[in-house]
Amino acid sequence: MIALSPTQQRTMPFARRQFLQSGAAAAVVAFLGEGCALPRAADGRLGFTPVPATLHDGVTVPPEYEAQVLYPWGAPTGIASSMPTFSPDASNSAADQAVQAGMHHDGMHFFALDGRTDRGLLVMNHEYTDERLLHAQGMTPWTEEKTRKSLHAMGVSVIEVELTNGGWRQVLPSRYARRVHGATAMRIAGPAAGTPLMRTAANPGGDRVFGTFGNCAMGVTPWGTYLSCEENFHGYFGGPKEAAPRATPAQRRYGTVSGSQWLDYWRFDERFDLSKHPNEAHRFGWVIEIDPFDPGSMPVKRTALGRKRQESATCTQTRDGRLAVYMGDDSAFEYIYKFVSRDKVHPGNGAAARAANRNLLDEGTLYVARYDADGRGQWLELRHGRNGVDAASGFADQAEVLIHARLAGDVVGATKMDRPEWIAVHPESGEVYVTLTHNTQRGAPGKPAADAANPRANNLFGGILRWSESGQDAASTTFTWDHFALAGDPQWPGADTRYPSADADTFGHPDGLRFDSGGLLWIQTDMAGPAIGKGPMAALGNNQMLCADPASGRIKRFLVGPNGCEITGCTVTPDRRSLFVNIQHPGETREDGSGTANSAWPDGTVAGSARPRSATVAVRRRDGGIVGS
Ligand code: FEO
Ligand code: CA
Ligand code: CA
Repeated sequence: MIALSPTQQRTMPFARRQFLQSGAAAAVVAFLGEGCALPRAADGRLGFTPVPATLHDGVTVPPEYEAQVLYPWGAPTGIASSMPTFSPDASNSAADQAVQAGMHHDGMHFFALDGRTDRGLLVMNHEYTDERLLHAQGMTPWTEEKTRKSLHAMGVSVIEVELTNGGWRQVLPSRYARRVHGATAMRIAGPAAGTPLMRTAANPGGDRVFGTFGNCAMGVTPWGTYLSCEENFHGYFGGPKEAAPRATPAQRRYGTVSGSQWLDYWRFDERFDLSKHPNEAHRFGWVIEIDPFDPGSMPVKRTALGRKRQESATCTQTRDGRLAVYMGDDSAFEYIYKFVSRDKVHPGNGAAARAANRNLLDEGTLYVARYDADGRGQWLELRHGRNGVDAASGFADQAEVLIHARLAGDVVGATKMDRPEWIAVHPESGEVYVTLTHNTQRGAPGKPAADAANPRANNLFGGILRWSESGQDAASTTFTWDHFALAGDPQWPGADTRYPSADADTFGHPDGLRFDSGGLLWIQTDMAGPAIGKGPMAALGNNQMLCADPASGRIKRFLVGPNGCEITGCTVTPDRRSLFVNIQHPGETREDGSGTANSAWPDGTVAGSARPRSATVAVRRRDGGIVGS
């Protein structure tokens, strides 16, 4: 194994020879999104040297690989006239932050430009903020400027990148570069748009909203747009504690309750005050669609896909050419969903295809999953007037079914899962894999007991479940399922670990999950800061990325991150010779952001010597070979 210092990671060159090799490969591949397969090459699957579990404070990759920091929080992201540089003391203004890389990088995709694999658009989410790092003087006193800077530090970045003989670099300026953040104007589309629960004083039409935040996992459409998922939106809505008793059952279920907010946005931006504008929170918790190739295009919130703490919007196509989107809802005992479009996808991924498919995500059927004990399962339709979802059960119309999808899932009897995170579709078999990250409330008094799909009480470690749609058709309403892996440390007393093979490295709290076009499954972990290296997680090292070959059942640890970080978001270039991976919240010792940062990555080697910064890292084999080999 090799542990790179921050300086080495930044300066490590990729050989010109390798660039030329990948250029040749690029000539024969086109853009490939999820669900599209390259011919399977004799690619030495999982041939790399496994990385041991380690608590080393740096990015550790196999010795045959090299890693390079590409795009840290605060990196300029814009056009030539507006590219303020990062101030290490966090003195950048809210206006600066609006044109700089956001914090807490998450889901990400590489879109090839002009069919090339050495130049493309890297589009990524910025999930949440660490306010103590974001502002020069920390959180106190909380101000309007800090509220705005915080909003600007979340959302999505679009950057242009190219492979040079010095490695991957951000192209600056780029006509594609832009930030979509917590105050960006966007459109609301689909069946809930314009309906009463979506209307606010500022937008009586219920069809326009400022911003997106809590952007966690993602998806890619066949027509070349990026889907970003609004996960923990609830923590930004609040208000005076006295208003809490007026919260409705739906507000309690979604966690939008006055007094329970994480940040006091409401004191300086009235729309976040639930006691005054309760409908504003209905306008978050959606999948949003962004056209990365058109920097002037307005992002769109797609209400037909349902509102939840959105995790993943993984796309594949049905046998008859419609789009299926798989989604998880990351909270304990929440559900897994599928949307199937009404209309067929117009083929292609150029501008004409994006125009032809511009409304495709607005009409279709939303389902929620039930996993039966016999290894079979059902997709249950969430439609007003069916399966008991109607006025009598509290839904005035289909808009309410979508806005309160969690409550509709209760009515139809969906299976309460152990925190569904990312979903990945095998590019050839169509098998669907989901990470269930963990759920220590399972089996606790008053909580649901273990069941077949969530078989562990006090589920400390999480696992990966998978299913095959009947007839290998993503439009099917039935499927068969099994466990791909029940994760954890087999040495931990009482641990029930079941792996797909004996040749599997251990891990816990799986979260990020993505197939590359060659059918390798990249698994990323998110053990919370306080849990890392202690108790049940003592032997698992820092958060990490593993590579699995479902055909053999082998799972090998590929990368381990710095102290305190989560590894989340990855994308492999179409030639499979570069991998981009996000290092989120290095140095985070506590989930609430308190405590002293235990890492200064990537700018310093000693904790406390620099503000830790989330960053994108580019990884390549030193010989220019296929990643994962
Ligand atoms: Fe943002 Fe559920 O992870
Ligand atoms: Ca996640
Ligand atoms: Ca997680």
